[in-house]
Amino acid sequence: MVLKIKRLRNPEVFKNKFKEIYLSAYESVKNEYYEHTEEEIEDYFNWLVKHAYDGFLVAYYKNKPVGFLILDLDWYDNKLRKKVAEIHEICIKEKYKRKGIGKKLVKTAEKLAGKYGLNYICGWVGKENYGSMNFFKKLGFEEGEIGWNIWKRIRKKIN
Ligand SMILES: CC(C)(COP(=O)(O)OP(=O)(O)OC[C@H]1O[C@@H](n2cnc3c(N)ncnc32)[C@H](O)[C@@H]1OP(=O)(O)O)[C@@H](O)C(=O)NCCC(=O)NCCS
Repeated sequence: MVLKIKRLRNPEVFKNKFKEIYLSAYESVKNEYYEHTEEEIEDYFNWLVKHAYDGFLVAYYKNKPVGFLILDLDWYDNKLRKKVAEIHEICIKEKYKRKGIGKKLVKTAEKLAGKYGLNYICGWVGKENYGSMNFFKKLGFEEGEIGWNIWKRIRKKIN
């Protein structure tokens, strides 16, 4: 099998690969939707480790990490008024996009959320990040409310 998804046991050691994949994935995305400086990216990484320690899903192509999805299994959705699985981040290295890797990561995240007894998988997407929004809609997510002016809520019922 060429593509493998692994759930990391020690996400803190993934920091350098995280930075590399993150910057490559966002190359073609509008500036306001991602962090830019070393320091901002590092703070963001530390925040993710703190909030989603057991939800680092990494896609390996021929044993090389090429993408990741970071899932929080203990997040509260204010509108649904319940605990949901929250996709904090999903990134695929530029040259590995459009090969079904993102889809595979989301499917893996949905299965994991199901195992935790959660009924919804959700996230926030830049409201003009049309590529990503189309990706999520293809996978069955629905658009919701705008948040903080620039984000749009996405939700999918999984159980
Ligand atoms: C969004 C992203 C994760 C998609 O990953 P990917 O591996 O390229 O997506 P896949 O190849 O699995 O695509 C799954 C489906 O979505 C569609 N899709 C993917 N990217 C798309 C795009 N830019 N525009 C329209 N449709 C798209 C594909 O056509 C595919 O449909 P199909 O199953 O009918 O063939 C990737 O483009 C990325 O890293 N973007 C930058 C970071 C980002 O914006 N993250 C989201 C933050 S919320």
